[in-house]
Amino acid sequence: MEYLYKLLVTLLCLGPICWSSQAAVVDLERASGSRDWWQVAQFYQIYPRSFKDSNGDGIGDLQGIISKLDYLKDLGVTATWLSPIFTSPMADFGYDIADFYDIQAEYGTLQDFDELIAAAKERGLKIILDFVPNHSSDENVWFQKSVRREKGYEDYYVWHDGYLNATGDRQPPSNWLQAFRGSAWEWNEQRGQYYLHQFAVKQPDLNYRNPAVVAQMKRVLTYWMDRGVAGFRIDAVPWCFEVLPDSEGRYPDEPLSGYTDDPDDSSYLKHIYTQDLPETVDMVYQWRQLLDDYQRVHGGDTRVLMVETYSNLDYVMQFYGDHTTKGAQIPFNFQFIVGGQGDKNNTQMNAGGFVKIINSWMSQMPAGQTANWVMGNHDQRRVGSRYGEQRIDLMNMLQMFLPGVSITYQGEELGMTDLDISWEDTRDPAACNSNPEIYEQFTRDPARTPFHWSSELNAGFSTSSKTWLPINPNYVSVNVATESAADSSHLKLYKQLVQLRQLKTLQYGATRYAAINDNVLAIKRSLSGQQSYVLVANVLDTSVSGVDVASVLYASGNYKIKLLNPEAKASVGDSVTLNNLTLQPYAALIVESV
Ligand code: GLC
Repeated sequence: MEYLYKLLVTLLCLGPICWSSQAAVVDLERASGSRDWWQVAQFYQIYPRSFKDSNGDGIGDLQGIISKLDYLKDLGVTATWLSPIFTSPMADFGYDIADFYDIQAEYGTLQDFDELIAAAKERGLKIILDFVPNHSSDENVWFQKSVRREKGYEDYYVWHDGYLNATGDRQPPSNWLQAFRGSAWEWNEQRGQYYLHQFAVKQPDLNYRNPAVVAQMKRVLTYWMDRGVAGFRIDAVPWCFEVLPDSEGRYPDEPLSGYTDDPDDSSYLKHIYTQDLPETVDMVYQWRQLLDDYQRVHGGDTRVLMVETYSNLDYVMQFYGDHTTKGAQIPFNFQFIVGGQGDKNNTQMNAGGFVKIINSWMSQMPAGQTANWVMGNHDQRRVGSRYGEQRIDLMNMLQMFLPGVSITYQGEELGMTDLDISWEDTRDPAACNSNPEIYEQFTRDPARTPFHWSSELNAGFSTSSKTWLPINPNYVSVNVATESAADSSHLKLYKQLVQLRQLKTLQYGATRYAAINDNVLAIKRSLSGQQSYVLVANVLDTSVSGVDVASVLYASGNYKIKLLNPEAKASVGDSVTLNNLTLQPYAALIVESV
């Protein structure tokens, strides 16, 4: 019967998804093969500046991370990626690297780093570093040598004379804009040329047309693998290459996008010459090759690459590799961040919206690859602030229940939310480059506030009288100590979800998902010979009854509740029939077949 139905669906829809007035049903990812460590890993992003301060200066550091490895272990995390920890003047909080081979003094030393790797290894945790290939700091010795045109460094960065206009004023080489507002070209008096910086003025773009730069950045990767890292999150990937100048040495202007009339805003232009070039994809393939070669020679587990790109999905998917070449194992799936309402506020998104987001990735992912789910990071608003605080557990349940890799940003396990930060306290260059009237559109500080360890001073983050960003006052109840002691909490549920992901059915099982109606999202995971699991979530603020999940997902028979959020107002172990469900507003249940 199931087979006949599927055949019918396939014939009618000629595709993996079929919408009807009732429901969207998608049936993807059959169980197969074995899984490498990263495919079933629980990844956790640490923003080191805000994780744990060990020396009382108000800034997180490596010893702080070391002191909290047991917390990560207890959470069930198996690998953690750290935002940059390298020497930096902190113009973009570490994404402006002055020395790719050393540690930022306020975070610690190379010795601390080696200690971190050893301590993590003892606990079976893998450490992944942020690799920032597109740019360095202007305080990097490479840039200073390039400014002086020292031999071998003349073309390490993208330099250009610009043009003199009719009145003899110097003009930048093109209309290109930086991500943080304003021209992407900055005049350097000493060298007498403009340099390209697609991020802040203090972040000059490295020149990937120069083989010496390519070789240097490969040395960076090897250096950190030699120190024991398990892979890299690659930063700002789409920007690595820009178009070559024409035969007269001119860079073409980018066309207007029509999205905004603010000429300083990066989205004023369509970035057809400065982002998403094919050469960039090939570069990632080269880095994957380097990692695989390293493993072949030195042994150990697979080293992974995670790619940060918010590009169109057809470009993102290329990073997985093609039938001849391997790419990154984890091109970040940001669909839960960029998808939905488009205004980054998804608090009203209905079940169809959720299915659309899930399906956007699943239907375009090349066969044989592993999905991944990123709900937030240090550049985005917190999940609870984007999807609504009553959906915090629901979103964690969803992330853990979907097939493939799960990646959590620090604090999401506690349900941390955004903190509105005054202009005076604002630190993010994306906001500081604007003005007090509009900075809130650009600021990334609200999701970067210090982590909440306890209800003590500074949320147990630091003993300093002042922390680098203010602490969200809700720390008194939203913190590790309080949530660990409570009978039920976001943290407790999160830990149970991490455990649930260990089940064979969740690791290997097939996935079928559907919007049953506007309210109800349902996902079934099944594997032959194993119990089946179904996630049922009422994503809206109205209650529903008479919901039939069973016939849409082929989930007849008896089920009992395995995990649930408090909004569900039921209990673990309660029996459930999936053909006639009543669900309270925002209720989410994971049920197990009996
Ligand atoms: C990435 C980082 C972001 C940084 C930018 C420039 O998007 O996540 O924080 O500002 O790249 O390196």
